[in-house]
Amino acid sequence: MVKIKNRLNSLVKYVNIADKVMDVGCDHALLDIYLVQEGIQDKVYVCDVNPNALENGKKNIEENDMVGKVIPILGFGIEKTASLDIDTLIISGMGSNSIIEIISSPLLSKIYKLVLQSNTNHYDLRKYLTKLGFNIFDEEIIRDGKKEYVNIVAVRDYVIKTYSEKEYLFGPVLIKNKKNLEYFEKLKSEYEDLYYRNRNEKHEEGLKYLEEIVNDLKSS
Ligand SMILES: C[S@@+](CC[C@H](N)C(=O)[O-])C[C@H]1O[C@@H](n2cnc3c(N)ncnc32)[C@H](O)[C@@H]1O
Repeated sequence: MVKIKNRLNSLVKYVNIADKVMDVGCDHALLDIYLVQEGIQDKVYVCDVNPNALENGKKNIEENDMVGKVIPILGFGIEKTASLDIDTLIISGMGSNSIIEIISSPLLSKIYKLVLQSNTNHYDLRKYLTKLGFNIFDEEIIRDGKKEYVNIVAVRDYVIKTYSEKEYLFGPVLIKNKKNLEYFEKLKSEYEDLYYRNRNEKHEEGLKYLEEIVNDLKSS
């Protein structure tokens, strides 16, 4: 059995046996080997744009007897998926701009679920997901060493929800979960510092939302 970091383990619960998965930017492919070893998937496609990273994945696939079950593909994003039977993407351990670049492909039309983990610019990612016709189904904050990631699970839907600016900025699911009170208190003091130093409108608005979020979570 492979061991995977907590950051990767936090994604496992979003994947079901019925999903037909590709992990984009797989690198080591450990999450995908784990999904098959645990019986959560029979077969997973994995891809990476960097041949050296994919070699890393291939080595782990061979060492763990996963040839034919975890299937490596060299390519940028989902460009090589036209003939593949997939409906779910995992994209983890990268920034939102890279994720947006990957999901902007026309081949996204056959994807119904996106399991994303980003450490930057979640506002733009949430906005882009809505533009593509996905609703935000779940969110979670994950710490990995000094980095903080947000898991965002988005599902394609007929009725597209509209979110407020506060929700795009701080997460429609995150702001309702009392578990995140400490996270938002810390963010609020960071925004206070930024606002008192720069006095710009963006930080003023963010600070106003954060005060509301912290008050709501405290009284929930
Ligand atoms: C930091 S690693 C994350 C690996 C793994 N997903 C994880 O969460 O531990 C990011 C990987 O994504 C790959 N990558 C970045 N942009 C990509 C793209 N557009 N298409 C495919 N792979 C990409 C990089 O080559 C790298 O191996």
